[in-house]
Amino acid sequence: MIVCRSAAELERLARVNQLVARVLRELRAMVAPGVTTADLDEVAETRLREAGAEPAFKGYHGYPATICASINEQVVHGIPSSRALVEGDILSIDMGAKLDGFFGDCAVTVPVGQVDEEAARLLKVTEEALYRGIDQVRAGARVSDIGAAVQAYVEAAGFSVVREFVGHGIGTKLHEEPQIPNYGIPGRGPRLAEGMVLAIEPMVNFGKAGVKVLGDGWTAVTRDGSLSAHFEHTVVVVNGGSRILTTPDTDEASKPGPRRSASGPQAALPPSRTMAADPQSLGGRG
Ligand code: MF3
Ligand code: CO
Repeated sequence: MIVCRSAAELERLARVNQLVARVLRELRAMVAPGVTTADLDEVAETRLREAGAEPAFKGYHGYPATICASINEQVVHGIPSSRALVEGDILSIDMGAKLDGFFGDCAVTVPVGQVDEEAARLLKVTEEALYRGIDQVRAGARVSDIGAAVQAYVEAAGFSVVREFVGHGIGTKLHEEPQIPNYGIPGRGPRLAEGMVLAIEPMVNFGKAGVKVLGDGWTAVTRDGSLSAHFEHTVVVVNGGSRILTTPDTDEASKPGPRRSASGPQAALPPSRTMAADPQSLGGRG
């Protein structure tokens, strides 16, 4: 079952997702050569707890940290460590939180200092692919329309989409129905309806699509060793379109801006409930 949230629930989802976006923005600003991913993790956990929230990933199927920090060929689920970032790296930071019973989830890939042109293009294409996916979100659309749009855009750019991890519904659990693959044929799968809340999260490899999980049981890397990027937003189906919940504040969210949403400016929240074949058996989603 895919849950449609009430206005009151959407308010709570907006709050936690805004918090996640705000902390992620702070982490992004910290990223520089010499900074370790454990440094980022510590700040992330501190900020969440200061806000009365809890890390959503920590303890999830035994995951040991607040953020996932995936460097270069690491796709997702990199475990923060004393590894220092180096100029030219790309770093994917993924963070989830729980506040007042509801979950938020957001990810971004950032350059460390100056990165080469290829890496920069991978980041641009992956972020744009996320927005192409979000542009599909409206009541009546089908879940597979999202992945089909992501895949078409990514492959036209010459990159590949990771199959083993998927986006997901999100609400009172980190992972709810539906699963949202980043590939597929349009017009398949469940129909979207007002009040559904989705975490859309394309993972894009510079080279081939294949991934494998390292011996730590978490870190997914590209099989061919090529770079990989990951962007994620949590969005709600609303007012005939969608609204991104993972924006640092409401002003930003309601700005028309060049980007976002086929339906133009983001829809305001209206004045007011889950799993299948797990591509990723453990922490099955991206
Ligand atoms: N954003 C990812 C997801 O939606 C991160 C999960 S990491 C885990 O699932 F540790 F929680 F598994
Ligand atoms: Co997610």
